[in-house]
Amino acid sequence: MSIKDKYVLRFTRLNRGLHVFMIISFLILSLTGMSLKFSYTGWAKVLSKFFGGFESAGYWHRFAAVIMIIVFVAHLVDVVRVKRKEFSSWKALLIGKNSMLFNKKDWQDFKESLKWFIGKGERPEYGRWTYWEKFDYFAVFWGMFVIGSTGMTLWFPEFFTNFFPGWMLNVATIIHSDEALLATGFIFTIHFFNTHLRPEKFPMDIVIFSGRVPLEEFKLDRPQEYKELVEKGELDKYIVEQYPPIVLRGMKIFGWTALSIGFSIIIWIIYAMIFVYR
Ligand code: HEM
Repeated sequence: MSIKDKYVLRFTRLNRGLHVFMIISFLILSLTGMSLKFSYTGWAKVLSKFFGGFESAGYWHRFAAVIMIIVFVAHLVDVVRVKRKEFSSWKALLIGKNSMLFNKKDWQDFKESLKWFIGKGERPEYGRWTYWEKFDYFAVFWGMFVIGSTGMTLWFPEFFTNFFPGWMLNVATIIHSDEALLATGFIFTIHFFNTHLRPEKFPMDIVIFSGRVPLEEFKLDRPQEYKELVEKGELDKYIVEQYPPIVLRGMKIFGWTALSIGFSIIIWIIYAMIFVYR
């Protein structure tokens, strides 16, 4: 295999599959949710027709919410499985080298990145997970807690008002709606920029679908992880071949579709907020 044909496996098949379902469910939740939130805009009317009317859009919303919750639970089960297989204790997993928790190096990388952005230093030697990837990862936990719990109260109001006063549903609607706006705004701008639009990845990175990064790119993008794998003599364990072009084309079409829908939602939100907000 020549160096150009060598790829490094970055994501497991399960994680890639979960991300695809996360994308599909999040797009449906955003499209149907925003068409309810901005129901007075022309776009909302067109979109809701696509989902079979406003009432039906509500059912699509609940259906996608169930998919998202299943994805979230499947991930938690996978974390427990990985812990049992590869780590002696939870502490070892949580403070280990490739942990998703923030550590001193993230703070260091963050400060060095700021210097690098303004040309006052070198690009930091990023490792397995960068500080912005960890932030994105935990945003999902926070989002699931806030959006998921409030969403459930909107779905089952009779049940929840056995325990809480009715005005809590009004508060839950406001929290759900505003947190949804924040999540949508964040994912389709900052997350898209960090993963696809930054110069090293522009215009799109399909690694989350293929799971593979070219070895040359891996060396430049994750120098610390590369060095560690070489020192431990473990790099070969992760070397794989790329998928055939037809499979990659399918991944690109899916990726472009998701990016286009995301950017369109952002334009729609900005339009609704500036020109027709009620
Ligand atoms: C994951 C669990 C979720 C559940 C259980 C859930 C549930 C619900 C329910 C039951 C409604 C009321 C729908 C209706 O009136 O027919 C609603 C509204 C809404 N949802 Fe969700 N949802 C979830 C996630 C999300 C996500 C991820 C987003 C967007 C990123 C979102 C955005 C919205 C918006 C914007 C509304 C309209 C709120 C308003 O009237 O201002 N939801 N949700």
